[in-house]
Amino acid sequence: MSGIVVIGAQWGDEGKGKVVDVFSENADYVVRFQGGANAGHTLVVNGKKTILHLVPSGILREDTICIIGPGVVLDIEGLVSEIEELKAAGYLKNPKQLQISEQCTIIMPYHKQLDACRETAQEALKIGTTRKGIGPAYEDRASRRALTFGDLFSAESTRHRLATALPEKNALFTGLYNAKAYKSEDLISWAAPYVESLKLYRSRDASMVIHRALKTGKRVLFEGAQGSLLDVLHGTYPFVTSSSTIAGSACTGLGIGPTTVSKVVGIMKAYATRVGAGPFPSELLNDVGERIRTIGNEFGATTGRPRRCGWIDLVALKYSIRLNGLTNLALMKLDVFSGLEKVAVCTGYNVGGEIIHEFPASTEDLEAAQPILEWMPGWKEDLSRVNTLKDLPRAATNYIDFIGNHLATPIDVISVGPAREQTLWVKPLFST
Ligand code: GDP
Ligand code: IMO
Ligand code: MG
Repeated sequence: MSGIVVIGAQWGDEGKGKVVDVFSENADYVVRFQGGANAGHTLVVNGKKTILHLVPSGILREDTICIIGPGVVLDIEGLVSEIEELKAAGYLKNPKQLQISEQCTIIMPYHKQLDACRETAQEALKIGTTRKGIGPAYEDRASRRALTFGDLFSAESTRHRLATALPEKNALFTGLYNAKAYKSEDLISWAAPYVESLKLYRSRDASMVIHRALKTGKRVLFEGAQGSLLDVLHGTYPFVTSSSTIAGSACTGLGIGPTTVSKVVGIMKAYATRVGAGPFPSELLNDVGERIRTIGNEFGATTGRPRRCGWIDLVALKYSIRLNGLTNLALMKLDVFSGLEKVAVCTGYNVGGEIIHEFPASTEDLEAAQPILEWMPGWKEDLSRVNTLKDLPRAATNYIDFIGNHLATPIDVISVGPAREQTLWVKPLFST
Protein backbone atom coordinates (compact mmCIF):
# COMPACT_ATOMS: atom_id res chain seq x y z
CA MET A 1 0.00 0.00 0.00
CA SER A 2 1.39 3.41 -0.80
CA GLY A 3 -0.82 5.92 0.90
CA ILE A 4 1.12 8.96 2.08
CA VAL A 5 -0.43 11.56 4.35
CA VAL A 6 0.78 15.16 4.07
CA ILE A 7 -0.30 17.39 6.95
CA GLY A 8 0.49 20.79 8.41
CA ALA A 9 2.67 20.43 11.52
CA GLN A 10 2.06 23.95 12.89
CA TRP A 11 -0.94 26.32 12.79
CA GLY A 12 -1.65 26.03 9.05
CA ASP A 13 -0.20 27.78 5.99
CA GLU A 14 3.03 25.80 6.21
CA GLY A 15 3.19 25.28 2.44
CA LYS A 16 1.14 22.08 2.14
CA GLY A 17 -0.18 23.13 -1.27
CA LYS A 18 3.31 23.58 -2.69
CA VAL A 19 4.55 20.26 -1.29
CA VAL A 20 1.51 18.31 -2.51
CA ASP A 21 1.87 19.87 -5.97
CA VAL A 22 5.56 18.92 -6.06
CA PHE A 23 4.92 15.40 -4.73
CA SER A 24 2.00 14.83 -7.08
CA GLU A 25 4.38 14.51 -10.02
CA ASN A 26 4.65 10.91 -8.82
CA ALA A 27 1.12 10.42 -7.49
CA ASP A 28 -1.85 8.80 -9.16
CA TYR A 29 -4.38 10.28 -6.74
CA VAL A 30 -4.50 13.31 -4.43
CA VAL A 31 -7.30 13.26 -1.87
CA ARG A 32 -8.59 15.91 0.55
CA PHE A 33 -10.02 14.36 3.71
CA GLN A 34 -11.13 17.19 6.04
CA GLY A 35 -11.74 20.92 6.35
CA GLY A 36 -13.30 23.09 3.73
CA ALA A 37 -12.78 26.41 2.01
CA ASN A 38 -11.15 27.77 5.17
CA ALA A 39 -8.03 26.30 3.55
CA GLY A 40 -6.00 28.33 1.07
CA HIS A 41 -3.29 26.30 -0.63
CA THR A 42 -0.94 28.20 -2.93
CA LEU A 43 0.82 26.65 -5.92
CA VAL A 44 3.30 28.52 -8.10
CA VAL A 45 3.96 26.89 -11.45
CA ASN A 46 5.63 28.53 -14.44
CA GLY A 47 5.48 31.85 -12.65
CA LYS A 48 1.71 31.60 -12.21
CA LYS A 49 0.04 31.50 -8.81
CA THR A 50 -3.01 29.29 -8.21
CA ILE A 51 -4.82 29.37 -4.86
CA LEU A 52 -6.93 26.32 -4.10
CA HIS A 53 -9.48 26.12 -1.31
CA LEU A 54 -11.28 22.83 -1.91
CA VAL A 55 -9.78 21.27 -5.01
CA PRO A 56 -6.81 19.03 -4.10
CA SER A 57 -3.36 20.34 -4.99
CA GLY A 58 -2.71 17.61 -7.58
CA ILE A 59 -5.06 19.31 -10.04
CA LEU A 60 -2.33 21.03 -12.08
CA ARG A 61 -1.03 17.61 -13.18
CA GLU A 62 -3.47 16.25 -15.73
CA ASP A 63 -2.68 12.61 -15.04
CA THR A 64 -3.45 12.91 -11.33
CA ILE A 65 -6.97 12.18 -10.14
CA CYS A 66 -8.19 14.49 -7.39
CA ILE A 67 -10.83 13.43 -4.91
CA ILE A 68 -12.73 15.53 -2.39
CA GLY A 69 -13.48 12.94 0.29
CA PRO A 70 -16.44 12.45 2.67
CA GLY A 71 -14.79 14.27 5.60
CA VAL A 72 -14.72 17.59 3.74
CA VAL A 73 -17.34 20.32 4.25
CA LEU A 74 -18.29 21.57 0.81
CA ASP A 75 -18.91 25.19 -0.16
CA ILE A 76 -20.66 24.52 -3.47
CA GLU A 77 -20.74 28.17 -4.51
CA GLY A 78 -17.00 28.61 -3.87
CA LEU A 79 -16.19 25.29 -5.49
CA VAL A 80 -17.95 26.21 -8.72
CA SER A 81 -15.90 29.44 -8.97
CA GLU A 82 -12.73 27.56 -8.15
CA ILE A 83 -13.43 25.04 -10.93
CA GLU A 84 -14.27 27.82 -13.40
CA GLU A 85 -11.01 29.59 -12.61
CA LEU A 86 -9.04 26.39 -13.06
CA LYS A 87 -10.69 25.72 -16.40
CA ALA A 88 -10.10 29.28 -17.58
CA ALA A 89 -6.42 28.79 -16.76
CA GLY A 90 -6.35 25.67 -18.96
CA TYR A 91 -6.55 23.04 -16.21
CA LEU A 92 -9.14 20.37 -15.51
CA LYS A 93 -9.81 19.66 -19.19
CA ASN A 94 -11.06 16.19 -18.35
CA PRO A 95 -13.88 16.22 -15.78
CA LYS A 96 -12.87 12.70 -14.68
CA GLN A 97 -9.85 14.31 -13.04
CA LEU A 98 -12.02 15.60 -10.19
CA GLN A 99 -14.37 13.50 -8.08
CA ILE A 100 -16.52 14.82 -5.23
CA SER A 101 -17.86 12.42 -2.65
CA GLU A 102 -21.63 12.34 -2.29
CA GLN A 103 -21.08 11.96 1.44
CA CYS A 104 -19.50 15.41 1.84
CA THR A 105 -21.35 17.77 4.17
CA ILE A 106 -22.72 20.88 2.48
CA ILE A 107 -21.98 24.34 3.83
CA MET A 108 -25.27 26.16 3.48
CA PRO A 109 -25.65 29.97 3.44
CA TYR A 110 -27.03 29.82 6.99
CA HIS A 111 -23.80 28.19 8.19
CA LYS A 112 -21.79 31.13 6.88
CA GLN A 113 -24.25 33.59 8.39
CA LEU A 114 -24.08 31.83 11.76
CA ASP A 115 -20.27 31.85 11.66
CA ALA A 116 -20.30 35.60 10.92
CA CYS A 117 -22.97 36.32 13.56
CA ARG A 118 -20.92 34.58 16.22
CA GLU A 119 -17.74 36.37 15.21
CA THR A 120 -19.35 39.81 15.24
CA ALA A 121 -21.52 39.35 18.33
CA GLN A 122 -20.00 40.64 21.54
CA GLU A 123 -19.35 37.16 22.80
CA ALA A 124 -16.54 36.24 25.16
CA LEU A 125 -15.01 33.88 22.61
CA LYS A 126 -13.33 35.49 19.62
CA ILE A 127 -11.68 32.84 17.49
CA GLY A 128 -11.09 34.88 14.35
CA THR A 129 -12.56 32.21 12.07
CA THR A 130 -12.43 32.46 8.31
CA ARG A 131 -16.23 32.95 8.39
CA LYS A 132 -16.62 30.20 5.81
CA GLY A 133 -19.23 28.38 7.89
CA ILE A 134 -16.90 25.54 8.84
CA GLY A 135 -17.83 25.20 12.52
CA PRO A 136 -21.61 25.42 12.02
CA ALA A 137 -21.48 22.87 9.18
CA TYR A 138 -19.51 20.32 11.22
CA GLU A 139 -21.87 20.94 14.14
CA ASP A 140 -24.81 20.03 11.92
CA ARG A 141 -23.04 16.90 10.74
CA ALA A 142 -22.50 15.80 14.34
CA SER A 143 -26.05 16.64 15.34
CA ARG A 144 -27.45 14.84 12.28
CA ARG A 145 -28.94 17.95 10.71
CA ALA A 146 -26.57 18.30 7.77
CA LEU A 147 -27.26 18.03 4.07
CA THR A 148 -24.85 15.92 2.09
CA PHE A 149 -23.77 16.52 -1.50
CA GLY A 150 -25.87 13.48 -2.43
CA ASP A 151 -29.01 14.99 -0.83
CA LEU A 152 -28.81 17.97 -3.17
CA PHE A 153 -29.62 15.75 -6.14
CA SER A 154 -33.10 15.15 -4.75
CA ALA A 155 -35.44 18.06 -3.94
CA GLU A 156 -37.33 15.74 -1.60
CA SER A 157 -34.26 14.82 0.44
CA THR A 158 -33.15 18.43 0.53
CA ARG A 159 -36.58 19.56 1.79
CA HIS A 160 -36.63 16.80 4.35
CA ARG A 161 -33.19 17.71 5.71
CA LEU A 162 -33.93 21.41 5.75
CA ALA A 163 -37.05 20.73 7.78
CA THR A 164 -34.79 19.49 10.58
CA ALA A 165 -32.00 22.02 10.13
CA LEU A 166 -33.80 25.31 9.57
CA PRO A 167 -36.17 25.92 12.52
CA GLU A 168 -33.38 26.04 15.11
CA LYS A 169 -31.19 28.22 12.89
CA ASN A 170 -33.99 30.65 12.17
CA ALA A 171 -34.86 30.88 15.85
CA LEU A 172 -31.26 31.86 16.54
CA PHE A 173 -31.09 34.36 13.71
CA THR A 174 -34.31 36.16 14.51
CA GLY A 175 -34.25 35.72 18.30
CA LEU A 176 -30.59 36.23 19.16
CA TYR A 177 -28.64 37.72 16.31
CA ASN A 178 -31.12 40.05 14.65
CA ALA A 179 -30.25 38.46 11.33
CA LYS A 180 -32.27 37.20 8.40
CA ALA A 181 -34.20 33.91 8.47
CA TYR A 182 -33.98 31.39 5.63
CA LYS A 183 -36.73 29.68 3.64
CA SER A 184 -36.41 26.14 2.42
CA GLU A 185 -37.58 26.86 -1.14
CA ASP A 186 -35.15 29.78 -1.51
CA LEU A 187 -32.29 27.54 -0.47
CA ILE A 188 -33.32 24.89 -2.98
CA SER A 189 -33.32 27.52 -5.75
CA TRP A 190 -29.97 28.85 -4.52
CA ALA A 191 -28.37 25.41 -4.71
CA ALA A 192 -29.82 24.36 -8.07
CA PRO A 193 -27.32 26.00 -10.48
CA TYR A 194 -24.33 24.84 -8.42
CA VAL A 195 -25.61 21.29 -8.23
CA GLU A 196 -26.09 21.35 -11.99
CA SER A 197 -22.47 22.46 -12.54
CA LEU A 198 -21.07 19.96 -10.07
CA LYS A 199 -23.02 16.87 -11.11
CA LEU A 200 -20.28 16.03 -13.58
CA TYR A 201 -17.91 15.42 -10.67
CA ARG A 202 -20.25 13.46 -8.41
CA SER A 203 -18.75 10.30 -6.95
CA ARG A 204 -21.22 7.77 -5.52
CA ASP A 205 -18.60 6.01 -3.40
CA ALA A 206 -15.32 7.87 -3.12
CA SER A 207 -14.20 5.69 -0.24
CA MET A 208 -14.39 2.64 -2.51
CA VAL A 209 -12.47 4.43 -5.28
CA ILE A 210 -9.66 5.19 -2.82
CA HIS A 211 -9.71 1.70 -1.39
CA ARG A 212 -9.39 0.16 -4.87
CA ALA A 213 -6.62 2.55 -5.83
CA LEU A 214 -4.64 1.55 -2.75
CA LYS A 215 -5.32 -2.13 -3.29
CA THR A 216 -4.05 -2.03 -6.84
CA GLY A 217 -0.79 -0.33 -5.83
CA LYS A 218 -1.64 3.18 -6.99
CA ARG A 219 0.27 6.00 -5.30
CA VAL A 220 -2.14 8.02 -3.25
CA LEU A 221 -1.44 11.29 -1.46
CA PHE A 222 -3.78 12.39 1.32
CA GLU A 223 -3.69 16.18 1.53
CA GLY A 224 -4.39 17.74 4.91
CA ALA A 225 -5.74 21.22 5.46
CA GLN A 226 -5.12 23.58 8.39
CA GLY A 227 -2.46 22.44 10.87
CA SER A 228 -2.08 19.97 13.71
CA LEU A 229 -2.25 22.68 16.38
CA LEU A 230 -5.68 23.68 15.04
CA ASP A 231 -7.04 20.15 15.54
CA VAL A 232 -10.46 20.25 17.21
CA LEU A 233 -9.41 17.77 19.91
CA HIS A 234 -5.65 18.09 20.25
CA GLY A 235 -5.04 21.67 19.15
CA THR A 236 -4.95 24.82 21.27
CA TYR A 237 -8.63 24.50 22.16
CA PRO A 238 -10.85 26.50 21.90
CA PHE A 239 -8.69 28.41 19.38
CA VAL A 240 -8.93 25.67 16.79
CA THR A 241 -10.86 24.78 13.67
CA SER A 242 -13.78 22.34 13.80
CA SER A 243 -12.30 19.29 12.13
CA SER A 244 -9.67 16.80 13.07
CA THR A 245 -6.61 18.00 11.18
CA ILE A 246 -4.11 15.33 12.23
CA ALA A 247 -3.00 12.32 10.19
CA GLY A 248 -5.56 9.91 11.68
CA SER A 249 -8.23 12.08 10.13
CA ALA A 250 -7.24 10.78 6.68
CA CYS A 251 -8.55 7.38 7.79
CA THR A 252 -11.72 8.60 9.49
CA GLY A 253 -12.44 11.23 6.84
CA LEU A 254 -12.16 8.79 3.97
CA GLY A 255 -13.16 5.48 5.50
CA ILE A 256 -9.86 3.65 5.05
CA GLY A 257 -7.85 1.73 7.63
CA PRO A 258 -4.69 3.02 9.33
CA THR A 259 -2.71 0.15 7.81
CA THR A 260 -3.12 1.74 4.36
CA VAL A 261 -0.85 4.63 5.34
CA SER A 262 2.85 4.04 4.78
CA LYS A 263 4.28 7.49 5.56
CA VAL A 264 3.17 10.67 7.26
CA VAL A 265 4.92 13.81 6.10
CA GLY A 266 4.72 16.90 8.29
CA ILE A 267 5.10 20.29 6.65
CA MET A 268 6.68 23.06 8.71
CA LYS A 269 8.02 26.50 8.00
CA ALA A 270 11.48 27.69 9.07
CA TYR A 271 9.51 29.89 11.47
CA ALA A 272 5.96 29.79 12.83
CA THR A 273 2.80 31.66 11.92
CA ARG A 274 -0.75 31.74 13.15
CA VAL A 275 -3.88 33.51 11.84
CA GLY A 276 -6.67 34.34 14.24
CA ALA A 277 -6.66 34.27 18.03
CA GLY A 278 -4.99 31.81 20.42
CA PRO A 279 -1.75 31.17 22.28
CA PHE A 280 1.49 31.44 20.34
CA PRO A 281 4.48 31.34 22.75
CA SER A 282 7.23 32.10 20.21
CA GLU A 283 5.36 35.03 18.60
CA LEU A 284 7.53 38.01 17.62
CA LEU A 285 5.73 41.27 18.30
CA ASN A 286 8.64 43.35 17.02
CA ASP A 287 10.41 44.40 13.84
CA VAL A 288 11.78 40.88 13.23
CA GLY A 289 8.21 39.54 13.20
CA GLU A 290 7.25 42.38 10.86
CA ARG A 291 10.20 41.60 8.60
CA ILE A 292 9.26 37.90 8.40
CA ARG A 293 5.68 38.86 7.56
CA THR A 294 6.79 41.21 4.78
CA ILE A 295 9.51 39.05 3.23
CA GLY A 296 7.55 35.82 3.71
CA ASN A 297 4.39 37.48 2.37
CA GLU A 298 2.54 36.20 5.41
CA PHE A 299 -0.99 37.25 4.56
CA GLY A 300 -3.84 34.74 4.52
CA ALA A 301 -4.54 33.01 1.19
CA THR A 302 -8.23 32.81 2.12
CA THR A 303 -8.95 35.98 4.08
CA GLY A 304 -5.96 38.24 3.32
CA ARG A 305 -5.44 38.78 7.06
CA PRO A 306 -1.86 39.42 8.25
CA ARG A 307 -0.44 36.29 9.84
CA ARG A 308 1.17 36.51 13.26
CA CYS A 309 4.85 35.48 12.96
CA GLY A 310 7.36 33.99 15.41
CA TRP A 311 10.42 31.78 15.75
CA ILE A 312 10.10 28.08 14.96
CA ASP A 313 8.70 26.28 18.00
CA LEU A 314 10.34 22.89 18.45
CA VAL A 315 8.26 22.11 21.54
CA ALA A 316 5.11 22.43 19.45
CA LEU A 317 6.69 20.48 16.59
CA LYS A 318 7.66 17.61 18.88
CA TYR A 319 4.00 17.50 19.94
CA SER A 320 2.96 17.46 16.30
CA ILE A 321 5.32 14.58 15.57
CA ARG A 322 3.67 12.69 18.43
CA LEU A 323 0.09 13.49 17.36
CA ASN A 324 0.65 12.47 13.76
CA GLY A 325 3.33 9.80 13.99
CA LEU A 326 5.34 11.86 11.51
CA THR A 327 7.91 9.82 9.61
CA ASN A 328 9.35 12.66 7.53
CA LEU A 329 9.46 16.44 7.53
CA ALA A 330 9.54 19.19 4.92
CA LEU A 331 11.10 22.50 5.92
CA MET A 332 9.64 25.43 4.01
CA LYS A 333 10.49 29.09 3.46
CA LEU A 334 14.11 28.90 4.55
CA ASP A 335 14.82 31.69 2.04
CA VAL A 336 12.82 34.16 4.16
CA PHE A 337 15.58 34.33 6.78
CA SER A 338 18.29 35.60 4.41
CA GLY A 339 19.82 38.80 5.79
CA LEU A 340 19.04 38.13 9.46
CA GLU A 341 22.20 38.39 11.56
CA LYS A 342 21.01 35.73 13.98
CA VAL A 343 18.07 33.36 14.16
CA ALA A 344 16.43 31.57 17.09
CA VAL A 345 14.59 28.34 17.77
CA CYS A 346 12.28 27.79 20.71
CA THR A 347 13.33 24.66 22.60
CA GLY A 348 11.37 24.98 25.84
CA TYR A 349 8.88 27.07 27.78
CA ASN A 350 9.01 28.81 31.11
CA VAL A 351 5.57 28.42 32.68
CA GLY A 352 5.36 30.38 35.91
CA GLY A 353 9.01 29.62 36.76
CA GLU A 354 8.89 25.97 35.73
CA ILE A 355 10.92 25.00 32.67
CA ILE A 356 9.15 22.49 30.45
CA HIS A 357 10.11 20.81 27.18
CA GLU A 358 6.81 19.12 26.33
CA PHE A 359 3.81 20.94 24.87
CA PRO A 360 1.39 21.53 27.75
CA ALA A 361 -1.98 19.82 27.48
CA SER A 362 -3.61 22.85 29.10
CA THR A 363 -4.25 25.91 26.93
CA GLU A 364 -3.97 28.11 30.03
CA ASP A 365 -0.41 26.85 30.61
CA LEU A 366 0.38 27.50 26.98
CA GLU A 367 -0.97 31.04 27.29
CA ALA A 368 1.39 31.62 30.22
CA ALA A 369 4.39 30.05 28.47
CA GLN A 370 7.46 32.22 27.84
CA PRO A 371 9.72 30.84 25.09
CA ILE A 372 13.22 29.60 25.85
CA LEU A 373 15.27 30.44 22.79
CA GLU A 374 18.55 29.15 21.41
CA TRP A 375 20.34 31.51 19.07
CA MET A 376 22.39 30.70 16.00
CA PRO A 377 24.17 32.76 13.37
CA GLY A 378 22.03 33.77 10.38
CA TRP A 379 23.16 34.08 6.77
CA LYS A 380 23.29 36.82 4.16
CA GLU A 381 23.10 34.75 0.98
CA ASP A 382 19.93 34.71 -1.12
CA LEU A 383 18.74 31.09 -0.90
CA SER A 384 16.02 31.42 -3.50
CA ARG A 385 18.52 30.66 -6.27
CA VAL A 386 20.20 27.74 -4.57
CA ASN A 387 19.66 24.51 -6.52
CA THR A 388 21.41 21.89 -4.47
CA LEU A 389 21.88 21.20 -0.79
CA LYS A 390 25.63 21.54 -0.99
CA ASP A 391 25.27 25.13 -2.17
CA LEU A 392 23.46 26.18 0.99
CA PRO A 393 25.55 28.43 3.26
CA ARG A 394 27.03 26.73 6.32
CA ALA A 395 24.83 28.70 8.72
CA ALA A 396 21.67 27.53 6.91
CA THR A 397 22.85 23.91 7.01
CA ASN A 398 23.56 24.26 10.72
CA TYR A 399 20.06 25.59 11.25
CA ILE A 400 18.50 22.67 9.34
CA ASP A 401 20.67 20.13 11.18
CA PHE A 402 19.79 21.60 14.56
CA ILE A 403 16.08 21.25 13.83
CA GLY A 404 16.40 17.75 12.35
CA ASN A 405 18.49 16.51 15.28
CA HIS A 406 16.29 18.10 17.91
CA LEU A 407 13.15 16.61 16.36
CA ALA A 408 14.86 13.28 15.64
CA THR A 409 12.91 13.04 12.40
CA PRO A 410 14.41 13.22 8.91
CA ILE A 411 13.92 16.44 6.97
CA ASP A 412 13.53 15.15 3.42
CA VAL A 413 12.53 18.33 1.62
CA ILE A 414 13.81 21.88 1.95
CA SER A 415 11.99 24.66 0.19
CA VAL A 416 13.66 27.94 -0.75
CA GLY A 417 10.90 29.71 -2.67
CA PRO A 418 7.25 29.41 -3.67
CA ALA A 419 7.91 27.87 -7.10
CA ARG A 420 7.92 24.14 -7.82
CA GLU A 421 11.57 24.14 -8.82
CA GLN A 422 12.72 25.99 -5.69
CA THR A 423 12.73 22.66 -3.87
CA LEU A 424 15.79 20.85 -2.57
CA TRP A 425 15.41 17.11 -2.21
CA VAL A 426 17.16 15.17 0.43
CA LYS A 427 15.24 12.00 -0.36
CA PRO A 428 12.48 11.26 -2.90
CA LEU A 429 9.04 10.75 -1.36
CA PHE A 430 7.90 7.48 -2.85
CA SER A 431 11.16 5.65 -2.20
CA THR A 432 11.26 3.52 0.94
P1 GDP B 1 -0.77 25.99 2.82
O1 GDP B 1 -2.09 26.48 3.31
O2 GDP B 1 -0.09 25.12 3.83
O3 GDP B 1 -0.84 25.35 1.48
O4 GDP B 1 0.15 27.28 2.68
P2 GDP B 1 -0.30 28.69 2.03
O5 GDP B 1 -0.36 28.54 0.55
O6 GDP B 1 -1.48 29.25 2.72
O7 GDP B 1 0.92 29.60 2.47
C1 GDP B 1 2.22 29.32 2.11
C2 GDP B 1 2.76 30.52 1.32
O8 GDP B 1 4.15 30.43 1.21
C3 GDP B 1 2.24 30.58 -0.10
O9 GDP B 1 2.16 31.93 -0.50
C4 GDP B 1 3.33 29.87 -0.90
O10 GDP B 1 3.39 30.28 -2.25
C5 GDP B 1 4.54 30.32 -0.16
N1 GDP B 1 5.68 29.38 -0.14
C6 GDP B 1 5.69 28.03 -0.06
N2 GDP B 1 6.95 27.57 0.06
C7 GDP B 1 7.74 28.66 0.08
C8 GDP B 1 9.15 28.84 0.25
O11 GDP B 1 9.94 27.90 0.42
N3 GDP B 1 9.61 30.13 0.24
C9 GDP B 1 8.79 31.20 0.09
N4 GDP B 1 9.33 32.41 0.10
N5 GDP B 1 7.48 31.06 -0.06
C10 GDP B 1 6.95 29.81 -0.05
P1 IMO C 1 -4.67 26.06 5.45
O1 IMO C 1 -5.20 24.75 4.94
C1 IMO C 1 -4.35 28.83 8.80
C2 IMO C 1 -7.83 29.16 11.46
C3 IMO C 1 -8.61 30.46 11.43
C4 IMO C 1 -9.09 30.52 12.87
C5 IMO C 1 -9.38 29.05 13.21
C6 IMO C 1 -10.84 28.65 13.07
O2 IMO C 1 -4.57 27.10 4.41
O3 IMO C 1 -3.42 25.86 6.23
P2 IMO C 1 -12.36 28.22 10.93
O4 IMO C 1 -12.77 29.13 9.80
O5 IMO C 1 -11.65 27.00 10.48
O6 IMO C 1 -13.51 27.90 11.85
O7 IMO C 1 -11.33 29.10 11.81
O8 IMO C 1 -8.59 28.29 12.27
N1 IMO C 1 -7.67 28.50 10.13
C7 IMO C 1 -6.53 28.49 9.44
N2 IMO C 1 -5.33 29.07 9.71
N3 IMO C 1 -4.51 28.06 7.71
C8 IMO C 1 -5.69 27.45 7.46
O9 IMO C 1 -5.85 26.58 6.45
C9 IMO C 1 -6.77 27.69 8.31
N4 IMO C 1 -8.06 27.27 8.34
C10 IMO C 1 -8.59 27.77 9.47
O10 IMO C 1 -7.81 31.56 11.10
O11 IMO C 1 -8.04 30.94 13.71
MG1 MG D 1 -3.11 28.27 3.64
